[in-house]
Amino acid sequence: VGFGNVARRFVRLLDERQDVVRRRYGIDWRVIGIATRRHGCLVDPAGIDAGLACDVVVDRGGSLAAGPMSRTARPCADAQEVIAAAHALGPPRGVVLETTTLNVVDGEPAASHVRAALEAGFDVVSANKGPVACAYDELCAVADRTGRTFRFEGAVMDGVPIFNLVRETLPAVEVIGFRGVVNSTTNYILCEMERGVPFAVALAEMQAQGIAEADASLDVDGWDAAAKTAALVNVLMGGCLRPAGVARTGVAALTPDAARRPLAQGQRLRLVASARRGPEGIVASVSPVTVPLSDPLAQLEGMANALILETDLLGEVAIVQRDGGLTQTAYALLTDLLSLRR
Ligand SMILES: NC(=O)c1ccc[n+]([C@@H]2O[C@H](COP(=O)([O-])OP(=O)(O)OC[C@H]3O[C@@H](n4cnc5c(N)ncnc54)[C@H](OP(=O)(O)O)[C@@H]3O)[C@@H](O)[C@H]2O)c1
Repeated sequence: VGFGNVARRFVRLLDERQDVVRRRYGIDWRVIGIATRRHGCLVDPAGIDAGLACDVVVDRGGSLAAGPMSRTARPCADAQEVIAAAHALGPPRGVVLETTTLNVVDGEPAASHVRAALEAGFDVVSANKGPVACAYDELCAVADRTGRTFRFEGAVMDGVPIFNLVRETLPAVEVIGFRGVVNSTTNYILCEMERGVPFAVALAEMQAQGIAEADASLDVDGWDAAAKTAALVNVLMGGCLRPAGVARTGVAALTPDAARRPLAQGQRLRLVASARRGPEGIVASVSPVTVPLSDPLAQLEGMANALILETDLLGEVAIVQRDGGLTQTAYALLTDLLSLRR
């Protein structure tokens, strides 16, 4: 569900890693349904040629439903119909990959896609932070009731493990708070502005690479980072926070001069996402902050991200992703798929 930059990179990665996926994990797969918003939706029990689907959507800008995908393909009206039709086929073990556009207000329609897929008996893997930021508790309850699994490693910091790291390797540790740089587009823009590159030029580069959100104001106004902050609070700290509950200032009003000025004082400007549990509950914010050069967050170049977890037993645990991007996000979908298999 969603066949944009991330999903298309994912289907290619599955092919590139097919030996490992088949041999080591014993997974044989078929793509039996694809849903998009403007490029058609279809289901095919015999399996869809995902490479051809990529060509139809990207190169020809055409509709999957009208394209010659296969003789047995059936067009559908929307994502919900694709999920229902795929369910009716009764696959032995189905997974819905949710990679539609981010909505920071209520996580829709992605949250409804996740809910419908879990209800239909599919496990769900998503790179979309909207449902985790806006409907996490409710979706976990649906997954519990239906005995299915909802995984979303790619929702924060692309491919490096955050959610899976804490879930799998830090039992009995309490995350008291965190701070980090979690939005690649704005970190790239701040680094470029330090070098005197205008804001608009740096942003256009991130859009050209498919890294910026479809609506880039979500990045530059801090909404993407706020959604990730809410997701981290909900999953790692057991909170119930929505993106609107995160105090937020973006980078849109900053100039190259403002980005360069802290360098003279041995500091750098970073868009920092943070949360901490205090006596009044969890307080979270996203804002441009000057950090000393010795801070790990100051050392992040370009699209790099980092998250520093503050824990009760281990003190600070820092996770750095130096190279973020589409391959890393697609890899997060793959890791979730493989952990479902395990
Ligand atoms: N790009 C990254 O580096 C990155 C990294 C981490 C996480 N993410 C997250 O991954 C998700 C996908 O990102 P992307 O870069 O692949 O976005 P994208 O290129 O804009 O693709 C979004 C896809 O979702 C489809 N879509 C939107 N609304 C839909 C609906 N109601 N029903 C069915 N399909 C719908 C779009 O269809 P049409 O094309 O027909 O409109 C498109 O195929 C986003 O939630 C993003 O926040 C992205």
